[in-house]
Amino acid sequence: MDSQPRIGIVGATGAVGTITLRLLAERGYEHVRAFASARSAGTALPYGDRSLVVEEATLEALGAGDVDLFLFSVGTSASRELVPVAAGAGALCVDKSSAYRLVDGYPLVVPEVNGRRALEALERDGIVANPNCCTIPLTCVLKPLHDEAGLGRVRVSTYQSVSGAGAQRMDALAREAPVEHDLVMDWAWEGDESDEESKLRAETRKILELPDLPISATCVRVPVMVGHSEAVWVELERRLTPEDAAELLREAPSVRVLDLPSFPTPAAAADIDDVLVGRIRRDTAAENGLALYLSSDNLRKGAALNAIQIAELLLDSVAAARA
Ligand SMILES: NC(=O)c1ccc[n+]([C@@H]2O[C@H](COP(=O)([O-])OP(=O)(O)OC[C@H]3O[C@@H](n4cnc5c(N)ncnc54)[C@H](OP(=O)(O)O)[C@@H]3O)[C@@H](O)[C@H]2O)c1
Repeated sequence: MDSQPRIGIVGATGAVGTITLRLLAERGYEHVRAFASARSAGTALPYGDRSLVVEEATLEALGAGDVDLFLFSVGTSASRELVPVAAGAGALCVDKSSAYRLVDGYPLVVPEVNGRRALEALERDGIVANPNCCTIPLTCVLKPLHDEAGLGRVRVSTYQSVSGAGAQRMDALAREAPVEHDLVMDWAWEGDESDEESKLRAETRKILELPDLPISATCVRVPVMVGHSEAVWVELERRLTPEDAAELLREAPSVRVLDLPSFPTPAAAADIDDVLVGRIRRDTAAENGLALYLSSDNLRKGAALNAIQIAELLLDSVAAARA
């Protein structure tokens, strides 16, 4: 009997959904359906060597109970409406919006960092939240440093590509003349911080299970199509040399260390799974301080790939329980 899961991609026409379909096809999943809003229902999307006709993501379709797993990459308000219906019909749901990330009881998961937390969803309603596209690579790098030397304080400055803001912004950048390119802060303001900056802090604390970790960020959008970069300054509780930090990170899953004269760039990170880390050096402005720089593909590890990895943890666990 065919034991492959029946998978629904909601938001399949978007920046993240497009990559999700590509990764699922590469992984050999056969039973995949594409959902989006009424705007794009009926259009065709490539899936491996065939195509999928986009279905409208109505409450009836998502609540029909004929899908084992939904991967959601729609906006937060659409997720709040649709995810409970899909989960209520028995499907596992991985949601990439911010609807569930910081809600108590919902696992917020980076598999390499806190993968075991995903399985808690199986005891609840089957919903797991996928973190923000800057939080994911940051926690992949912070976790090994914390385990070895204890995180005391973290400061981050981000350089985020326009694909982080969705497919329409990618089209707009493609049409823009180079002379019009600018660096912007295009998030909502919460007092003197953007909501992207506060998300980065709150999500990092939740994933690392360090609720009081001092962490501050300045988030900036740059005129790059794909690939987010982050300059990171960490203060550690115990001394760790840059050489030892580099060795730890070389051993870390989904992290690739680059040594000078190489350094991470969005172009080098685009279309690969690993988080690139380099410029690992002493931060001369802090005791036990390290500075480093990372780049990762925000549409892959920052979104689609991380969600598929979460889904595979859930599906493996369900299959093992049935065996
Ligand atoms: N881009 C990233 O790097 C990234 C990373 C992590 C998380 N995320 C999160 O992932 C989500 C999607 O981001 P994106 O960048 O892929 O956005 P996007 O390119 O704007 O795509 C949005 C998708 O959602 C669909 N959609 C919108 N409203 C809908 C509704 N009411 N019902 C069903 N489908 C609806 C759109 O379908 P139509 O074609 O029909 O409009 C489209 O497929 C957001 O919550 C975002 O915060 C994005």
